[in-house]
Order: sequence, then C-alpha cells, then structure tokens
Amino acid sequence: MKSLFITGTDTDVGKTYVTAGIAVTLRKMGIDIGVMKPFAAGIAQKKGFKSEDVEILSRAAQVNDPEDLVNPQFFPLPASPYTAWKTLKTKPKINTIFSCFKKLSKIHDMILVEGMGGIMTPILKEYYVTHLIKDMKIPTIIVTRSKVGTVNHTMMTVKMCQKYKIPIKGIIINNFEDGYPIADLKRDLQNLTGIKVLGTIPFIEDMSDASLYNIFKKNIDFKLLLK
Ligand SMILES: Nc1ncnc2c1ncn2[C@@H]1O[C@H](COP(=O)(O)OP(=O)(O)O)[C@@H](O)[C@H]1O
Ligand SMILES: [Mg+2]
Repeated sequence: MKSLFITGTDTDVGKTYVTAGIAVTLRKMGIDIGVMKPFAAGIAQKKGFKSEDVEILSRAAQVNDPEDLVNPQFFPLPASPYTAWKTLKTKPKINTIFSCFKKLSKIHDMILVEGMGGIMTPILKEYYVTHLIKDMKIPTIIVTRSKVGTVNHTMMTVKMCQKYKIPIKGIIINNFEDGYPIADLKRDLQNLTGIKVLGTIPFIEDMSDASLYNIFKKNIDFKLLLK
C-alpha cells in the first residue's frame, strides 16, 4: 500500500487536521496507519511531544512509535527548516528522514507524512519540500483553503508538483473559513488543474475519533484516495 505525503498551499491551511482525519478513517477501515512529520517547528510543548502536530497525528493513528522516529527533527522556532538552520545553526538531516521513513514503513501498512508549510518550503539551499517528496517516492495530496486567493495558490502548488514529477492523488478543500462557494471552487480547480478534488472538509468542532471519522468518511472519496 502506497504511503502519502500531505502537503498544502501554505502553512495553517489544515494539513494536520486533514492528515489526522485521514489517519482515523483509514485506521477504522482496518489499515495499520503510521504517521510522520519529517521536520516540525515552533514552540515546544511543555508536556508530551515537543510538536503539537506530532501529538495530534500520533493520537489519530493510535501509534506508540517513538517521537524521534515520527518526528526526526524539531526546531524550536516557527520557521522553515532552512531558516531554522541558518538561525539556530542546526542543519536539517535529510538522510535521517529517509531512514526513519523506511523504519516506519516496515512497522505499518501505510505512512501518512505531513509536510511543512507549502511545496517550496526550503529545507536546504537547493532542496525544498518538492525534493523531499520526490526522494521519498510517494504521491501527494494537496490541502487547500476555500478563501479567495486559493486558486492561485493551488495552481502554483500543482504546477510545482508536476515540474518535479510528483504524482498528485487529489486536492482536499479545507472549508473552515469564509470563501468561494464550494461547488464553484471544486469545478474550477478540477477544470484548471485536471486534478480531482477528493472532497471538502467543513469546520471541525470536535477532534475526537468518532467526530473525525464521521466527517472524513462522509466527505472524502477514500476509494480514489487509496487507488
Ligand atoms: N476543518 C477545520 N475546522 C476547524 N478548524 C480548522 C480546520 N482546519 C484547520 N483549522 C484551524 O486552523 C489551524 C491550522 O490548521 P493545521 O491543520 O494545524 O494547519 P497546518 O498543519 O497546515 O499548518 C488549526 O489549529 C485549527 O485551529
Ligand atoms: Mg501542521
């Protein structure tokens, strides 16, 4: 079963929420799901995992994998890995990402990898999220907003994936703020990019297992996602 890299058009578009929802749903469908956040950044949490994203993802997948396997590198600064490197003098370790991904792939049927920021988020000078996805050899899902401006961001993201020959499984519209009428946005994104919209996620009030399962099962085309 192919693992998936969940990228987005920007930071804060909902990559973590969407990855968590997919993890819960696939797990309830009987798939042994692992999760990974290659690089995480921000203020470290005082309890539990340093990264809140890693905590949300691990809980959703119900895994007990060690934190340094799920998240090989944490930068205590809300910035891209490149900027964190330059500021903190800690170089991003790409090879560790691949070895952890390999280990996780042996433990689980399928790994959901959450990206950092958007598709061009720099990791090293000439090495972006695009390169990481390409080197992990897995297809991607693009999470996008519904807010006006999203068409531009989505098209740029799709074009970059195509430039780097990254297979795109589909787009997920995270409709948690005011924006385009969803039917219009879905029509136009599909026509403009030729990529399927796998579904639209509404505002999530409750991040419990049952709530995420109901929302994602109802709104995402899992047949297409797993194809
Ligand atoms: N579908 C949603 N429903 C409710 N709130 C959401 C939803 N998607 C995102 N959010 C809000 O936006 C924030 C950023 O989402 P997150 O998934 O962490 O983005 P990313 O991982 O892309 O940085 C969340 O902490 C949450 O407050
Ligand atoms: Mg996140």
